[in-house]
Amino acid sequence: MSFYQKLPKPFFVLAPMDDVTDLVFRQIINDLAQPDVYFTEFVNVDGLSSDGRNKLLHKLKYTNLGKPIIAQIWGKEPSNFKKIATEVRNMGFDGIDLNMGCPDKTIVKNGCCSALINNRDLAKNIITSTFEGAKGLPVSVKTRIGFNDIDMSWLDFLLDFELAGLTVHGRTKKQLSKTAADWDVISHVRQLRDQKKVKTFIVGNGDVITRKQGMMLAKKYQIDGIMIGRGVFSDPFVFSENSLWKSYTTTQKIELFIKHIKLFDLTYSENERSVYQLFKFAKLYINGFEGASDLRARIMSVNSSKKAIEILNSSLA
Ligand SMILES: Cc1cc2nc3c(=O)[nH]c(=O)nc-3n(C[C@H](O)[C@H](O)[C@H](O)COP(=O)(O)O)c2cc1C
Repeated sequence: MSFYQKLPKPFFVLAPMDDVTDLVFRQIINDLAQPDVYFTEFVNVDGLSSDGRNKLLHKLKYTNLGKPIIAQIWGKEPSNFKKIATEVRNMGFDGIDLNMGCPDKTIVKNGCCSALINNRDLAKNIITSTFEGAKGLPVSVKTRIGFNDIDMSWLDFLLDFELAGLTVHGRTKKQLSKTAADWDVISHVRQLRDQKKVKTFIVGNGDVITRKQGMMLAKKYQIDGIMIGRGVFSDPFVFSENSLWKSYTTTQKIELFIKHIKLFDLTYSENERSVYQLFKFAKLYINGFEGASDLRARIMSVNSSKKAIEILNSSLA
């Protein structure tokens, strides 16, 4: 039995977000309000199979948080998907997700991620190779509703693989994040799944910013799971029924940021991740109180976590 069968209905998922949902941020969210499933950031299988491997491995750092964690992979070469799927399995991850939705220009030009919507032979090879490497570990896909236009044939195609899960971000590749997510299409994918009598769990994604909204959408469209991405930026307690974020004091927010920075220092060596990535989180924690923008600017002007902690501590004094 895969972990999907044991999840609540609907289940909530923290979206994969590059340079955001690393091990450290997952731990922070886990301490505040837990989703039912986590994703890693996307990591490139071809890079992991090259000399540059050591520069990417930190994206697959694993800690058991008591909830399933899915490693998301992307790339071009099916044999690398097979190899990395086996590695990911041995690292302890609970599932493997294939990114077939990223709209980044360079990535698409290279024929990866959302470009696969228009290259079904390669998509098929990637999926079947991953199944081989996964050796029974659940394999899922995260994708969009089409390339330039809504394309149900793509979603129909994906449903034929009996994937464990299918996350549907309700926008086409062309729409990037500019228009509202189309939940009617997500609902059509669920209906198609039912018609085809496949067991794939359908996860809806796009513009959900509260748990209540997610519950409402899941009920209305009978979707198995709800994925939330950017919603964590406005409310890191987004997965809880009663968010504590609005009542969080300035001191609590600053202390939470200090905790994040210390955890980052413990987790990564200097070569693995830059502190500038870390300081981007200032927007999340140092927000919504008097003097926040000045304090943020001071953090962004330093070049070490030690100095950032000094500034934050002095602001508490
Ligand atoms: C900063 C950032 C990084 C992202 N990185 C990934 C990624 O690595 N893999 C992926 O499948 N989607 C990625 N996405 C897309 C999100 O997972 C999600 O599909 C999108 O943000 C829509 O959901 P939302 O409206 O809840 O944010 C990223 C989005 C953002 C904002």
